[in-house]
Amino acid sequence: MRIRTFDEYQAAYQKSVEDPEEFWAEIAQNFHWRKPWTKTLQWNFTEPNVKWFIGGKLNITENCLDRHLAEQGDQPAIIWEPNDPAEAGVTLTYKMLFDQVCRFANVLKRNGVQKGDRVCIYMPMVPELAIAVLACARIGAIHSVVFGGFSAQSIADRINDAQCKVVVTADGAYRGNKEIPLKSTVDDALIGCPSVEKVIVLTRTRTPVSMLKGRDVWWEQELKQVTAECPAEEMDAEDMLFILYTSGSTGKPKGVVHTCGGYMVYAAYTFQNVFQYEAGQTHFCTADIGWITGHSYIVYGPLACGATSIIFEGVPTYPDAGRFWDIVDKYKVDILYTAPTAIRSLMGFGLEKVENHDLSSLQVLGSVGEPINEEAWHWYDEHIGKGRCPIVDTWWQTETGGILISPLAGITKTKPTYATLPLPGVQPILVDENGKEIEGNGVSGNLCMKFPWPGILRTTYGDHERCRQTYFATYPGLYFTGDGCLRDEDGYYRITGRVDDVLNVSGHRIGTAEVENAINMHTGVVESAVVGYPHDIKGQGIYAYVITDQEPNGHDADLTKRDILATVSRVIGPIAKPDKIQFVTGLPKTRSGKIMRRILRKIAEGDTSNLGDTTTLLDPAVVEEIKAGAL
Ligand code: PRX
Repeated sequence: MRIRTFDEYQAAYQKSVEDPEEFWAEIAQNFHWRKPWTKTLQWNFTEPNVKWFIGGKLNITENCLDRHLAEQGDQPAIIWEPNDPAEAGVTLTYKMLFDQVCRFANVLKRNGVQKGDRVCIYMPMVPELAIAVLACARIGAIHSVVFGGFSAQSIADRINDAQCKVVVTADGAYRGNKEIPLKSTVDDALIGCPSVEKVIVLTRTRTPVSMLKGRDVWWEQELKQVTAECPAEEMDAEDMLFILYTSGSTGKPKGVVHTCGGYMVYAAYTFQNVFQYEAGQTHFCTADIGWITGHSYIVYGPLACGATSIIFEGVPTYPDAGRFWDIVDKYKVDILYTAPTAIRSLMGFGLEKVENHDLSSLQVLGSVGEPINEEAWHWYDEHIGKGRCPIVDTWWQTETGGILISPLAGITKTKPTYATLPLPGVQPILVDENGKEIEGNGVSGNLCMKFPWPGILRTTYGDHERCRQTYFATYPGLYFTGDGCLRDEDGYYRITGRVDDVLNVSGHRIGTAEVENAINMHTGVVESAVVGYPHDIKGQGIYAYVITDQEPNGHDADLTKRDILATVSRVIGPIAKPDKIQFVTGLPKTRSGKIMRRILRKIAEGDTSNLGDTTTLLDPAVVEEIKAGAL
């Protein structure tokens, strides 16, 4: 399953296109299956219906844990670095992690969780988060991890959509110099969640919490009641492994569903090849496990390959902007995987934060989540990689389960800002607005995939039609990514950003409709329109145009802005707070009532010289007013 040269990459790629079933069957044989599959792939992109390794039986935790015990049981599986560097960290060997996963799996069972039940996990970045995830997988429960920065309302929406039976949380979380009350947020959420029967609460911050009799139990006390014996549940390759919610261009987040067999094979295969992981290496992915990057490249991919994976609880700037480099130095990190927004932010703190650290252990640098600009790419290369570490700019999505387009470290010739070439098994195609293929090189278009890979989403939870509509209906017969893309003269791919109404703020996907809905909940707001604009650190910032029933002025305007921000935080979470709010008396609409976002985007970008065709506008005067008041 390991590619070592560019020739091998080309041969693997060719085989994966000519005989995808044989190609993936050979790779899948490297894993432990309770029962082999009878057919490797069945698919169509019309319904859509994609199944990999049909009839195969396995448990992903046997692959991530049990099978490593004999030879590397004493090797660290997880190294945990707490928020506060003065607090002692934790190292869990494969044996210890196995033991804790089995015990917590028994806690889940004790609290009524059975195969197929959904469990919501809302936790800080502590080892117990990975333990809870793996414990669900051990017993065949479907985990739905909700990022610890989301609001009570967002948790409730996700719990209700999946009808979760149990919530696993902690009293609180530490992030930088903040203490975040997780349990009380869960309590607020659960007012509207009748499906939840039990809440398991880990002690982390010792923040006072209310424990509801009959519903809430402490993690530590539950552990005392169970044994370490927990045989893995036998799962079908196509049984659901997890749900992860992500934003789209419509208001409500979608529950992207991944299944056991294909996801495992794909996460592990891509981890090993993209990062060129070698046995014994330490991998530091700075994402949160609440996002897909954490699922695939902190938990499942590295553990399936027997790697040592670092979980970092804090933020890159606490206690100072040298924290990542401290961690690299302290644990002799081999592979560092982070986001352009973090790089851009750290660049601003100057080189002295980097230079007093020994970064010589680094072998490979990764980037993910958003397009990486040239300046950040070169800074990462020169000052972190010291010009000797390949950078892998990995393009993928929650829906793809793992990396689709990326260099293989040290094998594919890199080019700043290019994700370069598709991985074996990945068949990209660029199409124009009408779905017509754009052939040749030196072209750009909408990025689609014409063939399934094992990690592709199978459905959106509880609403298969929505999955079809969102990804498979725009261009019949193709999976549509929502991204625009350029293919240069060398056939290298460069992702240029979303072509739909989805923003990418600090690597987080945020739907404009979601933010608008949240703003509109504020009393006095009549209507709003949200667009993105270029932001030096975040990649994209959020610009909101808001109509209120009484136009606020001066101090009133400041208060209203503050309250709108509080509303958005409350409804979605702080990550969705607009960076700029402009009060307007009208929005540019067509005669049929559609907001002309193109115009709003231009104004937000500060480019008002050429607004394009405005002849279909109902009231052109509105545009002049908005231009005059632009922030
Ligand atoms: O627009 C692309 C951008 O992030 C989107 C996927 O977001 P999400 O599902 O939250 O997953 C993020 C982590 C995999 C994509 O549609 N994106 C992700 N990686 C890159 C990227 N854009 C450019 N270059 C990348 N390397």
